[in-house]
Amino acid sequence: MKLNEKQLQDFQKKFGNILNERDIITDHDTIAPHLVDWVGNISGSSALMLTPRNSEQVSKILRVCHEETIAVVPQGGNTGSVASGIPNGEIILSLEKMNNIISIIPEDYSITVESGCILSQVQDAAQEASRFFPLSIGSEGSCTIGGNISTNAGGISVLKYGNMRDLVLGLEVVLADGRIMNNLKRLRKDNSGYATKHMFMGAEGTLGVITAACLRLFPKIENKVTAFASLSNLDATIQLLETLKSFSGELLSSYELIPKIGLDIALKYGDELVSPISDPQEWNVIIEYSDTKNNDNANDSLEYALGNAIEKGLVCNAAIASSLSQAQNIWKIRKAIVEHQPKLGGEIKHDCSVPVSSVPEFIRSTTQKLIDYLPDVRPVPYGHIGDGNIHFNVCPPSNYDPDTFKQNTEEIREIVYGNANSFGGSFAAEHGVGQIKKKQMLNYKDEVELQLMKDLKNLLDPKNILNPGKIF
Ligand code: MLT
Ligand code: ZN
Repeated sequence: MKLNEKQLQDFQKKFGNILNERDIITDHDTIAPHLVDWVGNISGSSALMLTPRNSEQVSKILRVCHEETIAVVPQGGNTGSVASGIPNGEIILSLEKMNNIISIIPEDYSITVESGCILSQVQDAAQEASRFFPLSIGSEGSCTIGGNISTNAGGISVLKYGNMRDLVLGLEVVLADGRIMNNLKRLRKDNSGYATKHMFMGAEGTLGVITAACLRLFPKIENKVTAFASLSNLDATIQLLETLKSFSGELLSSYELIPKIGLDIALKYGDELVSPISDPQEWNVIIEYSDTKNNDNANDSLEYALGNAIEKGLVCNAAIASSLSQAQNIWKIRKAIVEHQPKLGGEIKHDCSVPVSSVPEFIRSTTQKLIDYLPDVRPVPYGHIGDGNIHFNVCPPSNYDPDTFKQNTEEIREIVYGNANSFGGSFAAEHGVGQIKKKQMLNYKDEVELQLMKDLKNLLDPKNILNPGKIF
């Protein structure tokens, strides 16, 4: 949908009755950053961006859009990985100015926020109230809560606290026809019929626009202990996880796979990073324990569990960070893998999950299938294996032409996602579907479930004005 000059003026006039002039944006330079996904693979177009300041304005905007069949793309921090918030000519409905913390009630362990709040703003507000909001992802300084909920974001603390879906107590959602669904409750238990709020989580803005949320808080974390362990083989990754869970499962908050190739990338291209251990093996993990007690409990427990794992032959070598800077170095290695992987001549990114017990076999067989397809290809499987979520990114053989490699994208995606599917896994573990995984939806989603999703979409948005062309 491309707006002509007359339509643009017409829209400006219509929305001028609802919004302040400065919240109706047509300046190309201001809109431009909202048209590209951060991975840089997909760009879109839009001549108009609306930035409402409250849910009543969102409601009035959608009422007009519904009456006149005008499509909008809701957008938060635009940090997604699947181009879900990238418009293709539609109006951008940015929630960035709805960024107030509405209330925080420590006794209820809850915080209620507008959906344009930045994730780190919510983390900080919780901290100030001696509470903890656990969602932790790379983009936490710029992603918004509305986007986190709309994509059911995951990250490095899912192991202990669950996905974003598990952190939501209540929602306020503006429906496609402008009605406001007020479910902004602080309740832990509410079985009064269908859990409608869950329909909007992970829906990528296709069923309604999330305008506010009540979120769960947790006791403040007083002590974090971070370790880096090198394992004797790939199977040991899951055996060590089991050992840690059985000794101190309640403390274990992160368990991230770092392959040697990932560590090498981080050390080569990252800023002043050092290897946490002297002889890293092929497969390594980052372990984090989080404790509400400020004593030696977490450190001692981790040391004991790792000692046991060394005795069992699972772990070859491990280092527990003894200072904040050592812990930061370990987590910076994790971040640097994401940032610098493209320097290996390009990368094809994947976000998939399999049952936790299948992780080693999945990594082995996918690697073999990729090598059969393109000898010397360099897989970089890393990430949240404690949840069975692997970012199975693939880099080309050394000195391979990046453009030729890119031409293999579809085939490589099919190898990785097809294999995940054969393990009963998912082709969209934590990043969503957006524009880039629609083919996999057709290939791998249960037919009846897919039809049910389409029926739901038709019911809630019969004119297809909310983020059209995304998910299916
Ligand atoms: C991560 O776990 O660091 C991200 O989900 C990876 C990514 O965005 O590719
Ligand atoms: Zn991730």
